[in-house]
Amino acid sequence: MSDGIRIMETDGVIEIQFDRPDKKNALTGPMYRAMTAALADASARPDIGAVLFTGQGDAFCAGNDLKDFMAGPEGAAAAFAFIQAIAAFDKPLIAAVQGLAVGVGTTMLFHCDLVYAAPDARFIMPFVNLGLVPEAGSSLLAPTTLGHAKAAAMLLLGEPMDADAADRAGLVTAIVPAEGLLAHARAKAAALMAKPPQALLATRRLMKGDPAALNARMEEEARLFRETLSSPEAQEAFAAFFEKRAPVFRRG
Ligand code: COA
Repeated sequence: MSDGIRIMETDGVIEIQFDRPDKKNALTGPMYRAMTAALADASARPDIGAVLFTGQGDAFCAGNDLKDFMAGPEGAAAAFAFIQAIAAFDKPLIAAVQGLAVGVGTTMLFHCDLVYAAPDARFIMPFVNLGLVPEAGSSLLAPTTLGHAKAAAMLLLGEPMDADAADRAGLVTAIVPAEGLLAHARAKAAALMAKPPQALLATRRLMKGDPAALNARMEEEARLFRETLSSPEAQEAFAAFFEKRAPVFRRG
């Protein structure tokens, strides 16, 4: 257990659990750093075959802690290191999503191989509402996965996508009843552990393909994201969230 992240290990699978349920598992710098370290450990150790992301409480993850974002670009450094680590990770990634998956709670799923969702899962990428731009390659991966029109509803309007729509759109592998979600995801991780490891890793590498375009997009997103973090629009959106009021954006 470290600062809102619980790391567990069972039979070659590392489980990274978001454990800050009172804040809907919003991610802070120390939480990102714990996850980045766990991914490095999982990658380096030959006995580890897969990583499973889970969340405590009624939400999977409410995205980046907005207090950290209010601090400006330094407040996002640990998030960007995590995003790079998950995008470059070289073993199967699984996620079990219940309730809300906001911001990076959704964009990290584009880097996961198997995503199991409870019927109440809701996926939201509200970057534009916050005066920000998409991250984790989601400006590329969301249109590719969902199609431009569905991605536009999420990224331009900030509209949520429910579990059924996400299942139809290919964002999730399957919908699983909430009470069996974790057991199902763990069973799939165990099933991966039983596969021939070299063939499994090579197959995943082939499926992911050349990462050049994704890496270039992530760099461009990160540059714009850092710029927008300290913009008046973003600062107004963050202040409005904590003051529990609607934001007011000025034109021109
Ligand atoms: N950063 C910091 N705190 C957050 C948070 C975040 N991303 N998301 C939730 N919290 C906190 C709330 O401030 C609240 O704290 P409080 O009890 O001290 O007031 C607590 O978590 C519970 O959230 P609340 O808003 O009361 O729950 P809800 O069920 O009404 O709404 C959300 C849940 C996730 C829809 C809502 O909290 C939200 O919109 N959060 C921001 C999501 C976001 O924009 N993330 C960044 C994406 S880039």
